[in-house]
Amino acid sequence: MSIETQISGISVKVYSTSSDASEAVANEITQEITTRDHCVLGLATGGTPVDCYQRLVERHRNSGLSFADVTTFNLDEYIGLAADHPQSYRAFMQAQLFDHVDVRRERTWIPSGVAEDVSLECTTYESRIREAGGIDLQLLGLGHNGHIAFNEPGSPLESRTRQVELTPETIQKNARFFADDESVPRHAITMGIATILEARRIVMLVTGSSKAAAVSAMVEGPVGVECPASLLRNHPQVQLIVDEAAAAKLDVS
Ligand code: F6R
Repeated sequence: MSIETQISGISVKVYSTSSDASEAVANEITQEITTRDHCVLGLATGGTPVDCYQRLVERHRNSGLSFADVTTFNLDEYIGLAADHPQSYRAFMQAQLFDHVDVRRERTWIPSGVAEDVSLECTTYESRIREAGGIDLQLLGLGHNGHIAFNEPGSPLESRTRQVELTPETIQKNARFFADDESVPRHAITMGIATILEARRIVMLVTGSSKAAAVSAMVEGPVGVECPASLLRNHPQVQLIVDEAAAAKLDVS
C-alpha cells in the first residue's frame, strides 16, 4: 500500500515497508530501461539501494530485463581506492549489480579514485556524461546530514564533479564498511549538485527511521546549501520514494 502526495514540488510516495519502496524504485528503473533507447542511468552506492539492485538482478535473470543498451554513471568514488579495492564503489557496483547483468563494462562509468590528475578526472567525467547525452534517470540516496552524493552541507548549488573532503559524520557512518574509522578515506570525487540537477529525472530512495529527520528537512525545511537535498526542490521531476519509517516526521504521515 502506498500514499502519494506532493510536498514542496516533490512527488512523495510512502510505502509501508522498505521492500515495497525498493520494489517501486526497481519499477521506475525498469520502466526507464525498457522504454528509452540508449538509456543513461545515474547510480548510487550505500546500503539503501542494495535491495533495489537485487531486484533488478532477479528481473534480469527471470524476466530477461536487459542492460545491454544501458550506460551508467555513478555518483562518487573514494580517493585513494583503486577499482579492485574491496571497499571501492567500483567493487560495490560490480558485486551488487554489474557482475550479474548484461551491462557492458565499458559503459559503466565511476570516477577513478586513483587518477593521477584528479581535476582532469573530474572534468573528463563531466564531458563523458554530456557525450552520453546526459543522465535520463538519476538514483539518489540521502545522507543523515542531508548530503546527496558526497555533496556535504555547504556545497554550492553550481558545484560540478570535483574532489571533496568528507565530514567527520560521514566518515563515521561509512566506517561500518571498513576495518576501522582510520581506514575510511578522507576525500572523494563526487558529482556536483549542478551535475545532479541536470538529470532529466531524479528518483531518491530513503528508508529507515534514522533518516526521518533528513527527509523532513529536505522537503519541509528551508531550501539552501545547508541541506543539499533541499536543493532538489529546484528540479521539476523529482520523485521521493520512502518507507513509513523514513516518512515518520513528514506532515503526510
Ligand atoms: C552513495 C552516495 C551517498 C549515499 C548516502 C546514503 O553513492 O552518494 O550520498 O546515498 O550517504 O547512504 P546509505 O544508503 O548507506 O544510507
